[in-house]
Amino acid sequence: MLILGIETSCDETAAAIIEAKNSRISILSDVVSSQVAKHKKFGGVVPQMAAGLHQKNIVKVLDQAFKKSKIRPSKIDLIAVTAGPGLIPALLVGVSAAKTLAWKWQKPIVGVNHMEGHVLSALISGKNFSAIGGSASGGQFSAFNLPALALLVSGGHTELVLIKKWLNYKIIGETRDDAAGEAFDKVGKMLGLGYPAGAKIEQLAKEGDSREFNFPSPMLKSNDYDFSFSGLKTAVLNQLKTLDKKSPGYIADIAASFQRAVIDVLVSKTVRAAKEYKTKTVIIGGGVAANETLCNQLRKELKKNLPEAKFLVPKKEYTGDNAAMMALAGYFRRKAGAAGEWEKVQADANMELK
Ligand code: KG4
Ligand code: ZN
Repeated sequence: MLILGIETSCDETAAAIIEAKNSRISILSDVVSSQVAKHKKFGGVVPQMAAGLHQKNIVKVLDQAFKKSKIRPSKIDLIAVTAGPGLIPALLVGVSAAKTLAWKWQKPIVGVNHMEGHVLSALISGKNFSAIGGSASGGQFSAFNLPALALLVSGGHTELVLIKKWLNYKIIGETRDDAAGEAFDKVGKMLGLGYPAGAKIEQLAKEGDSREFNFPSPMLKSNDYDFSFSGLKTAVLNQLKTLDKKSPGYIADIAASFQRAVIDVLVSKTVRAAKEYKTKTVIIGGGVAANETLCNQLRKELKKNLPEAKFLVPKKEYTGDNAAMMALAGYFRRKAGAAGEWEKVQADANMELK
């Protein structure tokens, strides 16, 4: 089966073509056109501008995806498009393009949840991979051992998702204010690092002392699995006001101490939830999953506390938004009977993961 994936939920215009033969998946093309350079000067994503740029680029990106894959459009069996969550003006561009193609080609289409794409991105271990785990039972196709727990951390989301049944999701914790990536970006702005700042903070943190500033890990001790990062951001701001800006190295110490506070709470709650639900697989996904310090600490703590659990981390190029993960989600959804006609697909900015 040949699947065309389309993603325009935020500031990446992306199209990918994958081929699925049962559990064997091949990525035939995977094109991502990032708008980050255009949004940079505004310090974040401007929704209307994102929509305008998606509109400008979507056909070009689709054309490249077809050229690279050497697949003729008439061969496509399924269209998978990100229907939400995301910025509505941005989502509408991809959804409209996908629906038009589905109508013109008379092909089934499925609107997929962006966060499900991030959950499944960790399965893409190369251009060819096998997406089958150990618990495929009763003819049901399951790519990893269940129950599984996913920590989704991006610029817009911070969620702990429990997966007891294949393609069934329950959010057991989420941020009450800023997302983890948003906190990295806001602190980066205070430090004059530009946008987005996550990767820069991680680099700087390598030269800093993570114990120099005793920033709080918010909600570390709370009984639930929720997160909060806005107080931490304020703590960094207050600390900055007291510092002598001329003293060298303070930025690296701030970066390291801030990153430690974020990572400590993400790791602690993920490990606690994994233990409570006795999860056999732990997955991380989203832009912040590119942070190796976070992944290494989580791997280490899981090994200590839940040595049997498998830990899946996406390849760096699949931590950010892409259409290959959406095509994969579309394939699994189609297998579960979800694809249909173009009339049924609607963009939904607040689409729930369930
Ligand atoms: O998933 P993503 O590409 O877009 C959204 O859907 O939000 O995530 C982007 C976020 C940004 O906030 C960026 O600063 C953050 O991921 N990020 C990182 C790192 N690389 C990207 N945060 C921490 N450490 C990194 N290495
Ligand atoms: Zn995303």
